Formats: sequence, C-alpha cells, structure tokens
Amino acid sequence: MRNASNRLAIVGNLNVDLWVSPVNRFPKPDEEHIVDSARVELAGTAGYALLACNGLGLETITVSTIGDDAFGQILLNTGERLNLSLGSVEVMTGQETPLSIVFIGSDGSRSIVSTLGAHADMGMEVVLRHDDEIASCDEMFICGSYLLPRLGPADIREYAQTAQRRRQIVAFDPSWDPSGWGDRVRRETLDLLEVVDIYMPNAQELSQLAGRDGWRDAAREVAGLAGELVIKRGAAGACYVTASEWIEVPAFAIDAVNTIGAGDVFDVGYLYARRRGLPPRQRLEFAGAMAAIVVSQTGQREYPSPNAVCSFLRDRVGGDEWGEPVGPESQTWD
Ligand SMILES: Nc1ncnc2c1ncn2[C@@H]1O[C@H](COP(=O)(O)OP(=O)(O)OP(=O)(O)O)[C@@H](O)[C@H]1O
Ligand SMILES: [Mg+2]
Repeated sequence: MRNASNRLAIVGNLNVDLWVSPVNRFPKPDEEHIVDSARVELAGTAGYALLACNGLGLETITVSTIGDDAFGQILLNTGERLNLSLGSVEVMTGQETPLSIVFIGSDGSRSIVSTLGAHADMGMEVVLRHDDEIASCDEMFICGSYLLPRLGPADIREYAQTAQRRRQIVAFDPSWDPSGWGDRVRRETLDLLEVVDIYMPNAQELSQLAGRDGWRDAAREVAGLAGELVIKRGAAGACYVTASEWIEVPAFAIDAVNTIGAGDVFDVGYLYARRRGLPPRQRLEFAGAMAAIVVSQTGQREYPSPNAVCSFLRDRVGGDEWGEPVGPESQTWD
C-alpha cells in the first residue's frame, strides 16, 4: 500500500525563460537594437505548473533536469525564495540549463529560440530515481514530454500503468512536438492515452495527434481513449470530452497581455478543481479564470490563490455557484 499524500508530482520540463520585449523586428546580421526589457523566469510547462500550484497552496514535488551553470543557480535561488520543492530536480554536471529566449512583440506575438541542455539527459532512469517520492503523491502530471527526447510516449506508457496500478491519477500534457508529429510519435501517444486519466492538449496539438484538420473531428476521434480529454482553445475557451459527455465553455473576456504558460496554469487549475470535487463545467471555469487572471497581468506575475480565483469567478459568473466554498477538502477555499 502506498502512503497517499495530497501532493502533486510534476514530471517534465523545467527551464529558464528569457522574455525580451518589445521585439517587433529582428536585427539584421551585425546590427544591434536596444529594447525595453529582458526578464529571467522559472519556466517550462513544469515550471509554470509549479508556480501555479504554489499560488493555490498545492504541495508538489518536481522531477526534472537542469545544468550546473548560472541559469541553473537562478532556478534554484528562485525555488528557495518562493519555497518551492525542487529537491527532486537533478543538477547535471557539465550540462547547460535548458533556456528559451522568448522575443515578445508589441502585439503579444512570440518568437522562441530554445536549447535542450540538460533535458537531453532526462530519461526514464531519472524518473525512476524519484519513484518513491512520486509514488507518495495522489496525482502525477507528466508535462512537456515532447521536449524531452529521451522520455518517449512508449516509456511513459509503462510508467503510467505502474502509477495507475497504485491508484494514482495520471494527467498528461506533452505540449507541441518540435520533431514534427511523425507517425511513430502519434501512434505511441494514442496508445499511451489508454492509460491516462486526463489528457490536456491545446486544439492544434490535438488536431496534429489525430491527423485531422478540425479540433472537433480530432476530439471525436480521440474521445474515450483517455478518461477525460480537456482541450484548450486560447481566447476561444476550453472543452471537456469523455466517451459520453461534451462540454464547451467560452474564455473570459480579458485584455491578454502575456499568454506565455496560459495552458500550463489552466492544467493546474483544472486538476485543483477536480480534486476539490467540482463537476467538469466548473473545473473548466475555474481553470479558465486562473489562466485569465495570469495572462492579463503586466509586470511581475502573481499566481492567484483559490480565493482570488473564486472572487474573479463571482464577479464574472456570479450566481450562487462561486458564492460558497465548495468541495470536500476544507470549509474555505484557501
Ligand atoms: N486571450 C485569452 N483570453 C482569455 N483566456 C485565455 C486567453 N488565452 C488563453 N486563455 C485561457 O487559457 C487557456 C489555455 O490557453 P491556450 O489555449 O493558449 O493553452 P496552450 O496553447 O496550451 O498554452 P501554452 O502556450 O501555455 O502551452 C485557454 O483555454 C483559456 O481559458
Ligand atoms: Mg500547452
């Protein structure tokens, strides 16, 4: 028997983002431009998920690989400052910390250049070194795995099966496949979904996986493979699909100034609302509210507490739905 805890195990890509803005035109070779701002952020799907959990007061462990360089030190310092649990993040000697340089245009557009660095070392042996810790969590969120070339869908399938056997919930958001959605990746991912409880792609990723032009056709094809299919549609909202249910909700009308990590924050909001026992429509609303709050912030981000999300929902949705604390875990939202 495993010793169940309320923690969420995040297994995936932790990296540094360098947000540079505004970049409306790239310098030609040998030219130099001065821009307003460059900020270093703890990032990656695992990183944004971790920050979102921290805002909600959700305890986590994170399994990932970083390098023993200055960027790795920045991640560790940020973790210490925010009291994040980075004890299962492995620092690989002689490796670079994975970095994404995100050039943000005045219109919010993003052009990204990334290095793989220590993520090239993140195989299943790294995950298994932390198996005891992972096994002590109620849920495991495997994220950004297409960006971890040694953590393929077939390996993940085997581990997800182990996790399900010990009654853990398995959530999965592998992100966009930079290697081009080849037949093998698609086939192995579809196989993997059979042992996933919650699959959370965005609409474009789902279409690529199913080899369909429209996300609705793709959803019909993939529905019922994973227990729950949760589709993110940016400013168009989100959708919940199972073998027998189809629920669509619109996004909240907000001024989106920075949508980096929106999907990762949404994922965590969905998992949090689910563990609080909310029905699917309210999970989508809670997750959408969390993402909306984060993407409309300027300057230093603050990840919302459950009460802040509910207060947003009371303003936007109103009614009795968000008026009282909900869920079996405690009598208040925080
Ligand atoms: N412009 C927006 N206005 C309102 N809500 C938004 C906006 N963009 C994103 N969201 C919310 O965030 C959710 C997730 O966003 P999105 O669909 O962009 O995920 P994603 O493509 O996985 O993002 P990521 O770049 O983090 O991987 C959406 O379903 C929506 O609820
Ligand atoms: Mg995403």
